[in-house]
Amino acid sequence: MALLDVSGVTLRYKTSSAVVTATERVSFTVDKSDRFVLLGPSGCGKSTLLKAVGGYMSPSEGRMTIGDREIHGPGADRMMIFQEFDQLLPWKSVLANVMFPLLTARKLSRKDAEAKARAYIEKVGLTRVVDAYPHTLSGGMKQRVAIARGMAMEPDILLMDEPFAALDALTRRTCQDELLQLWSETKFTVLFVTHSIAEAIRIGNRILLLSPHPGRVKAEVVDVDKVSNEDGGAGRLEKEIHDLLFAGEATAH
Ligand SMILES: Nc1ncnc2c1ncn2[C@@H]1O[C@H](COP(=O)(O)OP(=O)(O)OP(=O)(O)O)[C@@H](O)[C@H]1O
Ligand SMILES: [Mg+2]
Repeated sequence: MALLDVSGVTLRYKTSSAVVTATERVSFTVDKSDRFVLLGPSGCGKSTLLKAVGGYMSPSEGRMTIGDREIHGPGADRMMIFQEFDQLLPWKSVLANVMFPLLTARKLSRKDAEAKARAYIEKVGLTRVVDAYPHTLSGGMKQRVAIARGMAMEPDILLMDEPFAALDALTRRTCQDELLQLWSETKFTVLFVTHSIAEAIRIGNRILLLSPHPGRVKAEVVDVDKVSNEDGGAGRLEKEIHDLLFAGEATAH
C-alpha cells in the first residue's frame, strides 16, 4: 500500500468575486522512501497541492489518505518546509526553534527533545550555531535549520515547497547535496515541489509533471535515479521532461 494516496483531487480557492480552480483531478501515490517531485510551471497549483496534503486546505473533489488515515487537517505525521527564510521564530535560538515542535507535540520530555534537536542540528552541520538567533544566519543556514526542525519530528512525510529556490546557485547545489546525503542515511519520504527541471532530476526518484493552470497530471517520470546515472542520462531526461511539459501529450517515460 502506498504511504500517501492523492486521488482525483480538485482544489479551488473561493474569493468574494471568483472561484479559482488550482488543480483538477490530480492523482498520484507516494511510497515510503520516495523522493517524489511535483514539477510544473508557475501557477499550476504545486503549492496548493502541498498545502492540501499538509491538511491546510480541503479538496472540492477527491480524497487524500496517509497510511490508512484520511487527511482532514494538519498533523505531526506531515511536516512542511517552505521557501521563505522567515519560517523560523526570530526570538528563539536555533536549538529552541528545532525543539519547539517537539515540545508542542508533547511526546518527549524537555531533555529528550533537546537531545533529539541537537542530533538533527548536527546532521545539517549547524552545531556551531546552535545558540545563535535566526537573524545572524545566512539564507542557506536558515533553510538547514528549517530542515532539521522538520526532520526532528520524524514525520511520515516531509513536504518541501521550493525550499532552495531563494538561495544563490552554489548554496542551492550544496543544500541539494546535503538533502540527498541525509536521505541516504535515513531514507525518509519527501514530497518536493519545484519548477526547475534540473532540480527535479537531481532530487527526485519519481517526478510528476503538471500542466499549466489549472494543474492536471501530464505524465509521471519513474526510474529517475537509474536514467540519470547513465552516461548523459540527466541531460537526456531534462530534454525529455522539457518536451513533455511544453510540447503536449506524449506518453510517460
Ligand atoms: N489564496 C489564494 N486565493 C486565490 N487564488 C489563489 C490563492 N493561492 C493561489 N491561488 C491561485 O491558485 C493557482 C495555483 O497557485 P499555486 O500557488 O499553488 O501555484 P504554484 O504552482 O505553487 O506556483 P509557483 O511556482 O509560482 O509557486 C494560481 O492560479 C493562483 O493564482
Ligand atoms: Mg508555489
